[in-house]
Formats: sequence, structure tokens, C-alpha cells
Amino acid sequence: MCGIVGFVGDKNAVEPVLCGLRNLEYRGYDSAGVAFYDGSKIRNVKQAGRVAALENELVDLDIINTKTAIGHTRWATHGTPTKLNAHPHYNKDKTIFVVHNGIIENHQELRSMLEAKGYHFVSHTDTEVVPHLIDFYYQKTKDMEQAFTSAINDLSGAYAIVMMSEIEPNKILAAKLSSPLAIGVGKKNNMVGSDASAVADAAKKIVYLEDYEIAIVEKNKYKIRNLKNKKIVTRNPEDLLLEDVRSSKGSFEHFMLKEIHEAPKTIQNAILGRIKIETNEIKLGGLDSVANQLRNIDRIIIVSCGTSYIAGLVGEYLIEELAEVPVEVQLASEFKYRKEPYSPNTAILAISQSGETADTIAALKKIEPQGLLTLGIVNSPGSTISRMTKAGIYCHAGPEISVASTKAFTAQVTILVLLALSLGKNRSKLYKDLLVELASLPKTAEKILSLSPAIKEIAIRYSHHRDFMFIGRGYEYPVALEGSLKLKEISYIHAEAYAGGELKHGPLALIDENFPTLALASSPTLFDKTASNIQEIKARGGKTIVVTTKKQQKHFKTIADDLIIIPEVSDQLSPILEAIVVQLFSYFIAAEKGCDIDKPRNLAKSVTVE
Ligand code: G6P
Repeated sequence: MCGIVGFVGDKNAVEPVLCGLRNLEYRGYDSAGVAFYDGSKIRNVKQAGRVAALENELVDLDIINTKTAIGHTRWATHGTPTKLNAHPHYNKDKTIFVVHNGIIENHQELRSMLEAKGYHFVSHTDTEVVPHLIDFYYQKTKDMEQAFTSAINDLSGAYAIVMMSEIEPNKILAAKLSSPLAIGVGKKNNMVGSDASAVADAAKKIVYLEDYEIAIVEKNKYKIRNLKNKKIVTRNPEDLLLEDVRSSKGSFEHFMLKEIHEAPKTIQNAILGRIKIETNEIKLGGLDSVANQLRNIDRIIIVSCGTSYIAGLVGEYLIEELAEVPVEVQLASEFKYRKEPYSPNTAILAISQSGETADTIAALKKIEPQGLLTLGIVNSPGSTISRMTKAGIYCHAGPEISVASTKAFTAQVTILVLLALSLGKNRSKLYKDLLVELASLPKTAEKILSLSPAIKEIAIRYSHHRDFMFIGRGYEYPVALEGSLKLKEISYIHAEAYAGGELKHGPLALIDENFPTLALASSPTLFDKTASNIQEIKARGGKTIVVTTKKQQKHFKTIADDLIIIPEVSDQLSPILEAIVVQLFSYFIAAEKGCDIDKPRNLAKSVTVE
């Protein structure tokens, strides 16, 4: 899941490529590199680490007169994140340069074939087979487009590949299979990139490539060809929307903190134009086209990964309770291995912030032949998952930059409340009350944010611990999972999450004075059960931080070490608010530890490899 950018125009090709790479760092940031044509030859600069390290390498070079450039920011799959393994990779005489995102599954076989023909490899990557393979075909055909096509046809796996060559220095060739790639259309220049943000510097319009398409991009024109039927593809460019483009973190120290603080706006945007209190209505326009099918569904399978998976778990509680439809949440990475029967009225709901997560895409591909109804709850407009699903609801949370997902979770759960209520309109007694409560939730979320100083003070006091437990019951159990995921992602503290009832079935053995617990206990219906858990923890010398409400605090005052008092809302809405608490708590611990919060080690924002 690396980031790719390319530019072809009149001058200054490296600048927009570097700008695209900075915007794409969310896709990986182990190493970065560029190749550019300076009018006589292609030069190649790479560096381990961030794009900033690459920029340092470029300061003394004359890049003004560069007309064509490609660049890459990497998240290592094959080969360690070193300068040697950084992209672009090249052929023996350094005339063909290639950047790649994805995995070439048959790289070993291709490498052996090429080595047998005298090709010599310098890196440990799967990618390096591509420039050699193109070279191999070029020696035979002396036609670069043909050589590129033949090489692509030999690859299996998943890829977005972009190449430039000294043979045709004013052209960029690109190909895609199961990995996003788009052409950015500008004035007197064109770009290619992994997403809209990659090409935003010089393009006003965008054309998304589909699987098995190759593109030949020049400064004034581009051509797309389908690899299977060999026909030219005509596809109108779409306007490049400003909201697709990366934003700045303003006065906040990190994107994560800014994005947590966007919670009230995020909830507002998710419900905007979708609920009408006066008429008691929910309108989810994205589902209109499948309204009849939705009436008959008898099972929903949610597929997703990471934080989106945890949002799905909240969705399971919501849809089962409010719409009375059985729901199962499956990790997309496991879904593909299961051999289960489906009724014809099963719907598959994919939840994804990026809309590009490879495992979620693979899950959708797996059930394609069954012809089941597929739905999406996606944040990124125009992304692969939004295009693959028959219908869906956009989150409208805006770009999320911090690798650890926060506002996307807020938006996903808000949408799941809307979906559950809309499916259960004629069934649930809670419909009207929850709708009214939901409308005022942005204001309640503001109150949670105003607790930041108190949460920060507690977080700092606990920041030296090496282990953490999160517990919750019912709707609060997924929040415990999310709290533990957030904390480990950004602070590298070992964290566990359990449903309160499971504590005594094993994890209680871990508890001592060095293993604190954050308990979610604001539920008006389950707080007393969680209070018993706190007693059990206290009896073992464990410290507890309890998130509860003013009304319930009397039950915890004497047993908890610290209390975080939040406004009371219905059980069904509590995950939205409590998630903000655990996000802030994790953030302040990581900040106290001086961690690289927006770009935690070993992770990436968009996981485009299975
Ligand atoms: C990565 C991100 C997580 C995210 C997960 C699923 O692991 O770091 O924050 O929850 O992918 O991504 P998606 O874009 O499908 O929601």
C-alpha cells in the first residue's frame, strides 16, 4: 500500500510529484523516491524514511527543467525499508523506471526466468522484475507501449504500476489491477496518482482507471486501453472536488487531535439532510435504488477491517435491536476463507473509511458470483468500494489524515444508527426518541470535547504503564475494543479489551497494581454489572478509570481511582460519545510519550495489500 505519483508537462515536473507524495504519505512512509527526465537523461533519487528526507536529497539538484517525473512513497512488503529497496526501480542501463503499489505474486518465477536470461537484480523487492521484464520485451519489439503491455500481461497479483523511459521521455505508462490509480487532467500537463490528493497540485479533473486498463499519458493528451479486449476506453473526467484533497492541521498539534475535535461537525455532516424530525423521517438517498430489495433482507453480513470492523460491531447491536434483522460482523481478511451458505436475501455491507482496503475489496469480490445485494458505508467518494457496491451511504467526514482512525468511526457509527433506524422504522418503539436524540448529538459531542483538560490530566498520570485493560458491556464493549486498538496503535502500549462478563474467564489473571483498567460504564442499563467488574479489579489491586455519567457516578465514587463524567445518552448512541473519550485518552498518553502520533511505526492509513 504505497503511494504513486507521476507528472508529464512542460517544466518543473518534480514539484507536483513531491507535493503528491507528501499528500500520499498516509499510504506508507518507510522510504520514498523519484525519477525525472532532465532533458537528456533520467535521474533517480531515493531515500529511506519520510518524503522530507527525499526532499533534502533534492535541494541541490536543478529540477526546474524537468518535464516528466514519477515518484513513490513506500510501505514495505517485500524487502526491508531501505534506500536500495525504495522505488523507482530500473532496468540495467537505467532507461526504464517503474513505481509500483501492490504485490506481484509470481515475482519469484519471473525473476528466475529473467536471471536465466542474464538480467541482474539489485533489490529484494517484487517490483524490480517489472522494469527488467519491460526491457526484455522492448529488446524484442522495439515498441515501448507493446513491451509495457506484454510485461503487464505476465504479472499476477495486485498492482498499480507507473513507468517512464528514456526511449519515450515525454510519456508515462500506467496499469492497474486491484489497486487504485487515476489520471489527473490538467492544462498543458497531466498527472497519474493513487488518489485525487496525489494529482491535485496540477490537475482540475480526474479519471479513475479500472482493472485491466493501461493508460498512456502525455502532456496534452491521454489514452486508456482495455487489456482484455484491447479496445480504447472513453471515460469522461470528473471534477476534482476540493474535499478529496488533503487538508491542513490548522492550530492543532496533530491531525489526530484535529480530527477528534471534528466529531460534532462529523455527526452533523452524517445526518445532514438525512433526518427530518418534523415528519419523523430518515432519507438515505444512496439506498433508494435498492429499497425493494432492502425490505426483504433476512440477514446482513458486515465485512470490514480495523476500526471499521469495530464500527461494524456497534452496527450489529444496533441493527439487531432496532431493525430486528440478524447481523454478523466478519473480519474481511477472514471472510474470504469461509465457506458458508447464504440465503438469497442476505445483504453484504462493507464498511471502509478509505474505500480501498484490499481485504474488504477481496471480500466483496468473493461474493460477486452469488449476486447478493452489496452495500457500502464509505468515507472516500469515488473509491473502489463505493464503486463496487450496488448502493451505499457516504460518511461525508472529509479526508482523514491521521493513520489512527477517529472521526471516520464517529461517522460510521452515526450512519449505522441511521441505517438501523431506517430499516426498523415500523418495528422499533425507540425510533422517534432516538431520532430526536441523534439530532442533538453534535451538541453533546461538544460537551465531551470540553472534558479534554480533565482527560489529559488523567492520561498523563497513567502514561508510564506498559499494559492496559479496556472493558465494557453491550454497546460499550466495541468501544472498549476501539480504545485498546487506539492506544496500542499510537502509544505502543500493550492493551487488551474484554467484554466485562469475560473478565473472570481469564484476563483477570493479568490484573495487578501495574495493569490499570479503563471501564466504560455510562450505560443506563448495564452500569451495575460493570460496577461488579470494578470491584473484582479493585480486589486484585488493579487501578481503574471509569467513564460514567453524573447519574451513575455514585456507584463508582468509592471504588474507582479516577472518574470521567460524560453526559447521559441512550445506550444505542453511547458508543459515539465514549469513542471520543477513548480517542482523547489514547492521544494524550501518546503525546506525553512523545510518539509520532499521525504516523505510527509500521502502520499505514490505507492497507491496499491483503
Ligand atoms: C488501516 C488503518 C485503520 C483502518 C483500517 C481499515 O489499518 O490504519 O485506521 O481502520 O485500515 O481501513 P478502512 O479504510 O477500510 O476503514
